[in-house]
Amino acid sequence: MSEVTAAVADDLAPVDLRSTNRRNELQTQHEKTDGYFNLIAYIASNAIAGEVMAVENYSEMVPLMPTTDDKIETVKQAHEESKHIQMLASLGKRHDYTVMREIVEPQWFNIRRHFSSAVQNKDLAACLIMQDLMTETMAIVLYRTLKRQGDPDTAALASKILEDELEHLEIGLTRIRGLLEADPEGVHESLKWAHHRVMPELFSMVSTSCHFLCDRLNIDCGALSLGDLKTDIDEIRIEALDTYVETLDKANFDPVVTAALIESMQSYGGTPSMNSALATA
Ligand SMILES: [Fe+2]
Ligand SMILES: [Fe+2]
Repeated sequence: MSEVTAAVADDLAPVDLRSTNRRNELQTQHEKTDGYFNLIAYIASNAIAGEVMAVENYSEMVPLMPTTDDKIETVKQAHEESKHIQMLASLGKRHDYTVMREIVEPQWFNIRRHFSSAVQNKDLAACLIMQDLMTETMAIVLYRTLKRQGDPDTAALASKILEDELEHLEIGLTRIRGLLEADPEGVHESLKWAHHRVMPELFSMVSTSCHFLCDRLNIDCGALSLGDLKTDIDEIRIEALDTYVETLDKANFDPVVTAALIESMQSYGGTPSMNSALATA
């Protein structure tokens, strides 16, 4: 069948069949299975939830920013996160799977709640640590994995988003270093406070078992496997922890404080790799 005839036949086919045709085409084109696309739908939906949380966090943080330039920069970050939501949602549309455009999993709501407490306490350092450092670090690990292991469309999109998230992390590192110089003790207290609230929530999402997401997406939770992305949970957790250690290091936090925090992560599944500098300190 010629391309034109195939397109006409596709247009005339019932909607269900049309959608199956498109899915089959993509599967052949990218040599990916249904399991792969279900996994990507799950990951993209959870990524969108993280982006929605980021939009809210950055927006809520604006009044705490000390200068007008800082406020403008923070609004820009919120705007970039909102573009990420639209990009991920349009990928779902192109690949013909459902993605959520709102937060579903409870961990995101928990982090949002802690972030709001920090705003109420006017603890700018805790806000920056939670959003710019911790959430961005996990976003970087996620988009890096999709860039490396995803199909060409997903990899290209992840690569674009990754550039923004790396920039957000750099902005956060510069901001935190400044605050650390002015008040090392206070900022280390904020780090400890934020770490124990946010890191267990973020780490618990490096998982293919969920609370409600698969039900909402109408996919079989038990059948999801990271093998479809040629990786596994342990590999991602190790990379996430190593990247977090690197972030804390770059922010100039005291290694004595951070080593104790990293150590505490073993209780919720964080096992640093042998070459992680702080973990072996
Ligand atoms: Fe983002
Ligand atoms: Fe970001």
